[in-house]
Amino acid sequence: GGPVRVEDADVVVVGSGMAGLVAALRLAPRRVTLLTKTADLPGGSSHWAQGGIAAALGAEDSAESHAADTVAAGAGLTDPAVADLLAREGAARLSRWLADGLPADRGADGNVLLGREAAHSAFRILHAGGDATGKTLMAHLSAQVRAAGHVDVRTRAFAWEIVKAGGRVAGLLAHEDGSGWVFIRAATVLLATGGIGQLWRHTTNPGEATADGLALAALAGATLADLEFVQFHPTALATATPGQVPLLTEALRGAGAQLLDARGHRFMPDEHELAELAPRDVVARAIGRRVAAGERVFLDLRAIWAGGGAAKFPTVAGICRDAGIDPAAEPVPVAPAAHYHMGGVVTDMDGRTAVPGLFAAGEVACTGVHGANRLASNSLLEALVFAERAADAILAEGPLRAPDVETPVVPAILRDDRGLGDEARAVLATQAGLVRSGTGLSQAQAALSNLHRRADRLPLAATPCAETVRTAGELRNRLLVSRLIVQAALTRTESRGAHTRTDWPEPRETWLRRQVLTARSLLPA
Ligand code: SIN
Repeated sequence: GGPVRVEDADVVVVGSGMAGLVAALRLAPRRVTLLTKTADLPGGSSHWAQGGIAAALGAEDSAESHAADTVAAGAGLTDPAVADLLAREGAARLSRWLADGLPADRGADGNVLLGREAAHSAFRILHAGGDATGKTLMAHLSAQVRAAGHVDVRTRAFAWEIVKAGGRVAGLLAHEDGSGWVFIRAATVLLATGGIGQLWRHTTNPGEATADGLALAALAGATLADLEFVQFHPTALATATPGQVPLLTEALRGAGAQLLDARGHRFMPDEHELAELAPRDVVARAIGRRVAAGERVFLDLRAIWAGGGAAKFPTVAGICRDAGIDPAAEPVPVAPAAHYHMGGVVTDMDGRTAVPGLFAAGEVACTGVHGANRLASNSLLEALVFAERAADAILAEGPLRAPDVETPVVPAILRDDRGLGDEARAVLATQAGLVRSGTGLSQAQAALSNLHRRADRLPLAATPCAETVRTAGELRNRLLVSRLIVQAALTRTESRGAHTRTDWPEPRETWLRRQVLTARSLLPA
């Protein structure tokens, strides 16, 4: 390939979901270079959020109650101090954003409307544009970032490697469509790369959610934790096509939607006393068990639609229209899909990772706030609170000069191979999904090691284009993180929160702790 261009920035932000955009805005007046793989702003899962933002803003609510619900959802692994911080600062920071013009659905009195969701003990969910919350908020933030003079946005850019000197961050090597390799010298890199849903066959996450941030951090020497805890959303639209699948928001079940099997039997009352409003993992497993046995499961929206619900759920109405389904006439086929990663790069409360100069915020980070299971609608709040805290910590350090380091050379790129990636997805989907077993995870470990060895033997691409660089980078990241997740899941010999094992069906006292891994913990392929 051609030579590596050199540029300078104060901070490099990787990712353009809620955490990336909020951090970039907050970092003024530092010169920020923001990289996103997508063709435009925003990227990431935030845009797709139908549920809202949880925040203790109601007169009858309190930060203590929100923190307590967050801790309860985490099945023993949530750090209460971080939950307390999220709830307290979340309400205060979100109020400030709302006062500054962040859109939200409001009642006739002008007050923000607060909805209720399962496992929340108060009305505390804000929406914007009904079920188009993520889209509405991200359009607002994207416009602000585009107008911000201190942020240089690079679209179709792939972050290849965090470059270090003397143990601390010295910059980031990236590939940009059109202009090739660039080394952005910077003393600080903030990872806001979001989720990892694309490691499974079906996910609510968009195509870019391929675990890039986790892999970059691990390769740079950061520690990762809680990797085995992956939340599956119970009701994605059932489809055979792999990749991103549309979500049918939990709020539909809150509004009375019922789950039916192929015979039209409402099965959730047999599974849990809260029926359709049981905890998300209980509902997901009840549906997942039936789907795995070859049965079909449906979400019945007919009563909601008969009551004029289509207007309240414009996103769901659009999804059904696109799928050729009329929810007023027929129940909608659903299946669980990978949704949210509780684990991530270990950070302190200010987004600092174990690598000096490397920060992480949003879904890619593991602050300890979600423990073994995330409470619905806490993720946009987490992105907002911890992106701001990380930005504040970076600002407080003062502008730092990047350590001197030699310009990296153009890396060798393996030839495009989507086949290996698809095989890896199938392994995780069948052996490391909603329900796992020691035998299945051991098989997955062997299969992924084998794929890793095959990937290492792929021929080199002669003149790699942006597409080839991205595919090769995503395959490297996917295989590394898939292997770490399977190892973490195999080691955790219990069931807790979102991690369920048939061979260890109960939680165990000895596992009332977080499991920390590094790239070095990985057994050789
Ligand atoms: C949903 O709308 O069902 C998703 C909400 C969430 O995952 O927090």
